[in-house]
Amino acid sequence: MALQLGDIAPDFTQDSTEGPIHFHDWAGGSWVVLFSHPKDFTPVCTTELGAVAKLKPEFDKRGVKVIGLSVDGAGSHEQWAKDIAETQGTALNFPLIADHDRKVSDLYGMIHPNANDTLTVRSVFVIDPSKRVRLTLTYPASTGRNFDELLRVIDSLQLTDRFKVATPVNWKHGEDVIIVPSVTNEAAKALFPAGWTEVKPYLRTVKQPG
Ligand code: BEZ
Repeated sequence: MALQLGDIAPDFTQDSTEGPIHFHDWAGGSWVVLFSHPKDFTPVCTTELGAVAKLKPEFDKRGVKVIGLSVDGAGSHEQWAKDIAETQGTALNFPLIADHDRKVSDLYGMIHPNANDTLTVRSVFVIDPSKRVRLTLTYPASTGRNFDELLRVIDSLQLTDRFKVATPVNWKHGEDVIIVPSVTNEAAKALFPAGWTEVKPYLRTVKQPG
């Protein structure tokens, strides 16, 4: 069965551009974004890896480690990394898993045989510090992902964990948030002493905490 939200992210050991990765040890107590690419030396992936390298300070700020994957060997990844540095104006600054035997791709269900029986689709897994899967995304090979959206979701997840708030449609950092339904008004008084707006008893908005 496909990995589902709340599942423990499977552990693995695999080669990477930074040597063998023992995934759970590598993740430590951090949040992780694990994302796959169909293949080395492909155009969309080249732009995505450059974009993620540029966003690395934003991931760092949120305590998130990023790790890419494609189904080629480490030697191929190293050659491709030179092209990424040359064309995207930034060098890779995070590991790229060399999933030559598709061990990790199979473990995480990154190969969708009815789309392509050898290459991975564009999967994303956001994994929290307790190793639970908190987001999955699957994009087609021909569509580059929006990594700003991924940062937005991570901000939302971290707010939920820290402050028991959810985020409304199209929420952006700094905008009002929603008190989660499991928090009673009595409990909310302690959590949000400055008060909140009750649009409906089930829709209570509050300034973004933190
Ligand atoms: C790419 O990764 O660039 C790509 C892969 C398959 C189809 C189109 C683009």
